[in-house]
Amino acid sequence: MHAVDFSSRLRVEPRQCYILGKGTGFGKVILFNEHFVVYGLPAIASAVGAKTTALVERHLGSGVEIIDNRPETKGYKAEKLAQQKESLDLMLKFMNIDTRNQAYTVTLAGDLIAASGVGASAASCAAIARAFSDELGLNYSDDRVNEVAYEGEKGYHGTPSGIDNTAATFGGLIWYKREGTSQIMERMKLSRPVDIVMGNTGIVADTKVVVAGVRERKEREPERYAEIFKNADRLARDARRQLEMFSLEEVGNSMDQNHELLQQIEVSSPELDMLVDLARNNGALGAKMTGAGKGGYIVALTPGRDLQERVAHAIEKKGFQAMRTSIGV
Ligand code: MEV
Repeated sequence: MHAVDFSSRLRVEPRQCYILGKGTGFGKVILFNEHFVVYGLPAIASAVGAKTTALVERHLGSGVEIIDNRPETKGYKAEKLAQQKESLDLMLKFMNIDTRNQAYTVTLAGDLIAASGVGASAASCAAIARAFSDELGLNYSDDRVNEVAYEGEKGYHGTPSGIDNTAATFGGLIWYKREGTSQIMERMKLSRPVDIVMGNTGIVADTKVVVAGVRERKEREPERYAEIFKNADRLARDARRQLEMFSLEEVGNSMDQNHELLQQIEVSSPELDMLVDLARNNGALGAKMTGAGKGGYIVALTPGRDLQERVAHAIEKKGFQAMRTSIGV
């Protein structure tokens, strides 16, 4: 891995001149209602401190090459290579960028670990959209970047709800709901930032497969799923109030309940359940899996540096990676 230097946009070398376009995208954590959000239920997500950066260089020739220097959970990049290629093709097409007579190199880097559950694909899509806009002088607004990133997410998710690319593009804490082809995104405010810990199972999951599994089971057991979905809808609305009132004990409790609903739709895993229990046993106010599940990350609510450190340390002592970050910044 090498660090990418953004300090200069123009790098002049003997007989060659590359213009570098640059862009960034945030990692994210879903606090409430992943999966349910795909079916139009409300969800709550936040950007995390870590980011992915993209650089775009133009060369003579044709085609596009990706150099992926992101830190990763072992195996993630190899596992996602075909989807990454599909995603980039979708974005180039959407942006009307023709690579037949112009070659591009896209270099990904940053401090966001490329792993399941932390919005790695969405962060890279937003970063790439911004870098091409910068490189080609397209002047994309954040809304346009979000549209391009949504297109790119189709390569990874199949039928993305759009929550990941929205968090990756805009940052902050958001209330998100899909209504048909449109989306509602409202910014939420916390009276002060709250520390969280994200624990990484180290398992790479295929979002497309996990999302398709939910769809199949939902169609097979419509009544049972209707009841679970009703509870998920109520829970997200309660959680929004609790977050806005800064009732963290209640928020933690709602996170625990959300984890149970995610277990009921069979997207958790023994490793995720183990990390969730570990976080709770070490004092987290609440904990749940986050993202598509079947691997990836958990999120634990750990207000205060001492509690955050205790939970993160317990996860690390068991041999798992822990990310210390905060929401509502
Ligand atoms: C994945 O981070 C979130 C899911 O809800 C899929 C999506 O919303 O597109 C599982």
